[in-house]
Amino acid sequence: MELALYCPVYGYYEAQKETIGRRGDYYTSVSVGSLFGELLASQFAHWLDEDRPQLVEAGAHTGYLARDVLWWFREHRPDLFERLEYWIIEPSTRRRRWQEDTLAAFAGRVRWASEIGGVGPPSAFGDRGRIRGVIFCNELLDSFPVRRFGWDAQERTTFEWGVRLEGAEFAWAKMPDSDCSSSAPTLGQSPAVAGARSDEAQQDPCAPEVPADVLAVLPADYTLEICPKAVAWWRQAARALSRGRLLTFDYGFSVMERLTPERLRGTCRAYYKHRLTNNLLANPGEQDLTAHVDFDVIQAVGEEAGLKTETFESQAQFLTRIASRIWSGETSFGQWTPAKTRQFQTLTHPNHLGAAFRVLVQQTASIKTADIDAWAGGTSE
Ligand SMILES: C[S@@+](CC[C@H](N)C(=O)[O-])C[C@H]1O[C@@H](n2cnc3c(N)ncnc32)[C@H](O)[C@@H]1O
Repeated sequence: MELALYCPVYGYYEAQKETIGRRGDYYTSVSVGSLFGELLASQFAHWLDEDRPQLVEAGAHTGYLARDVLWWFREHRPDLFERLEYWIIEPSTRRRRWQEDTLAAFAGRVRWASEIGGVGPPSAFGDRGRIRGVIFCNELLDSFPVRRFGWDAQERTTFEWGVRLEGAEFAWAKMPDSDCSSSAPTLGQSPAVAGARSDEAQQDPCAPEVPADVLAVLPADYTLEICPKAVAWWRQAARALSRGRLLTFDYGFSVMERLTPERLRGTCRAYYKHRLTNNLLANPGEQDLTAHVDFDVIQAVGEEAGLKTETFESQAQFLTRIASRIWSGETSFGQWTPAKTRQFQTLTHPNHLGAAFRVLVQQTASIKTADIDAWAGGTSE
């Protein structure tokens, strides 16, 4: 999955620019129109109280969301626009060039870093607690590579699915035990947390339990994915936040929602020309590969890093609250045109993007432990 999406030569997200929207393979809230970014900008303006606030976006792809957010600030909050630092976290130089083209009108206003630790001036305290403002992403976590595990009901054990060549085709193959023993999920333990631990050995207080009566009836080859990279990314972002909020929009579930019949074979999917397919191994580098986000685990990781969960709700609930403030005249926004109404319906209708997409917002307490550690010049637990 890592290679199919991110190989510098053939990777889906490297080789193809117009993968999103009508001419691409799937839609995102950003591709619906500028309203998503404008509503977000309005919410950010409501939140930001820093002297020189930072907006840090990851997974910007072509830079359209950054453009919509910055445009709104320039038009409607020029005071904040002048004080704002807009950062894009972009590990790929090719995608950075696409973003520079899109954001030419904001040249000099946007800065890039290849990872979150590169935001702001170098700090003697590493990445901990450097960012004041908002770190956000739309559909980033679902695009990180996952590991897939199957449940062997007879042996009552898990095994990892690997990929091998059969002739000229890729095919699924059960990996030998030794290759996955370090991070295979164990009974009663969240597989995502198990995978995360192989990156960083630490106890996660919120490992959700799979009830014994559910385990007893799990069918053979029940499949679940773990995404250690999403966990590691969220942890790093949470730690980098000194004051403000960390939020993500994505499709995903909590652990009990995972245990539904339609997810028996996991949530990894491929998108090709707006068609959803389960053939993950076809068209490598030419189709999008994605998996649902395990929000229970992501939320737990943020809380472990010292953040408080402010909200976990549907995209419809989140955006409707912002829009209500605009419609009641509580906040100035600009003209609400019929085109915006149409976009709003697509973003919030349960049959479109309103229900499947969730928003997780976590925030710092007024002072984070990371700050205290930094001031103390060491680490405290
Ligand atoms: C599904 S696209 C989302 C695009 C955009 N946010 C939108 O909503 O239209 C995911 C993007 O995240 C990028 N990405 C993957 N890993 C990343 C990382 N570690 N940091 C920043 N971006 C990353 C991918 O290359 C791709 O451009």
